[in-house]
Amino acid sequence: MYLCLCKGITDSDVREAGQAGIVMPGQLKARFGLKDAGCCGRCSKDIQEFVQIATSAHRAPSPNSVRS
Ligand code: FES
Repeated sequence: MYLCLCKGITDSDVREAGQAGIVMPGQLKARFGLKDAGCCGRCSKDIQEFVQIATSAHRAPSPNSVRS
């Protein structure tokens, strides 16, 4: 699912950022260049959606950490 059409950012991009510890609105905006030239600003207004996705990815255990 695309979260930002201008830059082609998908939910999996945001999940990856979350797993790397990028979960704060300012960090996410900087990581994806949401305030750079060429941005329409629409997704910047929806930054809380980015935060939710990144935060849930940050908390979710990675499949590699599951041990039996
Ligand atoms: S939709 Fe993300 S900058 Fe336009």
